[in-house]
Amino acid sequence: MGAILGVETSCDETGVALYHSEHGLLGERLRSQVALHAEYGGVVPELASRDHIRYLAPLIRSLLDEAGLVRPAGVAYTAGPGLAGALLVGAAVTRSLAWAWGVPAVAVHHMEGHLLAPRLEPDPPEFPFVALLVSGGHTQLVSVAGLGRYRLLGDTLDDAAGEAFDKVAKMLGLGYPGGPAVAALAERGCPGRFRFPRPMTDRPGLDFSFSGLKTAVLNAVEAAGDDPQARADIALAFEEAVVDTLIIKCRRAMAATGLSRLVVAGGVGANRRLREGLRAWGRKAGVAVFFPRPALCTDNGAMIAHVGALRLAAGERADPVFAVRPRWPLSELTVP
Ligand code: KG4
Ligand code: ZN
Repeated sequence: MGAILGVETSCDETGVALYHSEHGLLGERLRSQVALHAEYGGVVPELASRDHIRYLAPLIRSLLDEAGLVRPAGVAYTAGPGLAGALLVGAAVTRSLAWAWGVPAVAVHHMEGHLLAPRLEPDPPEFPFVALLVSGGHTQLVSVAGLGRYRLLGDTLDDAAGEAFDKVAKMLGLGYPGGPAVAALAERGCPGRFRFPRPMTDRPGLDFSFSGLKTAVLNAVEAAGDDPQARADIALAFEEAVVDTLIIKCRRAMAATGLSRLVVAGGVGANRRLREGLRAWGRKAGVAVFFPRPALCTDNGAMIAHVGALRLAAGERADPVFAVRPRWPLSELTVP
């Protein structure tokens, strides 16, 4: 049906992209707010909204100009979950444009965007597959039978994996965003000096919990004082504990579902140790492991344009009255 404009503004990235069902990704733009929030040690929602307001329209204009398009064939925007104010910017701008252009609009679930992002890659995973969704707000294992056909297999009982990375980064005096900073520090760590628990792996089930691990890390950080090598060793042991835990649960999810494809999505999917660990295990276990490239793991407009194109093609349209859903369980999604 032509090129679909996707707009992502759920948190601290303004992402826009054009996706065409036959020609794939036609272009994309990303404005990261990392520098803006860094001095506060985390995302400040009001500043995020203002920055989206400032950058969204110019990004869309330059994207369309580059593609030589006056208007796309349809628009898709993240309607949730995320920060209410930030979501409202994307929703208001995108819906206004759709109305002015006279093209259809569709509201996209942010996590569905992440979930299907690996299908933007050249060698995309076929359905059905198991997805490990690991982001700043989510740690979930989902059985994916097709667009809108999701079954939750496991979820976190407390912190998300990315959130644990962000909190440990704070304990170690590292900046925001925490994941890449902890991973970089861990590169300098010596293995074996610390060992942290692999939470909830000693009992059956596919749920996660990271709060106990966080406390164990806090105790070690306090005991280490300002010894820089000990801090790097702690970062490494923490990363190993998270990665091991995720791999153990993925292994169980594959056994429980009998599926042979595993897809990893969300910001923590950019973690090198996780990627290498899952690949090595997948080779041994005969499981095909799919990761989108790191830029498609973290928030971006392409994943929203992609899901939007699928849902628009299936005839789905956003409600005439628009609302955002800061909390929106993936389990409420349906086949369009
Ligand atoms: O998917 P995402 O960009 O935004 C959300 O939807 O939450 O994920 C952001 C999360 C943050 O918690 C960040 O610290 C984490 O992903 N992250 C990483 C890495 N890159 C981003 N965690 C570990 N290692 C990384 N390389
Ligand atoms: Zn995300």
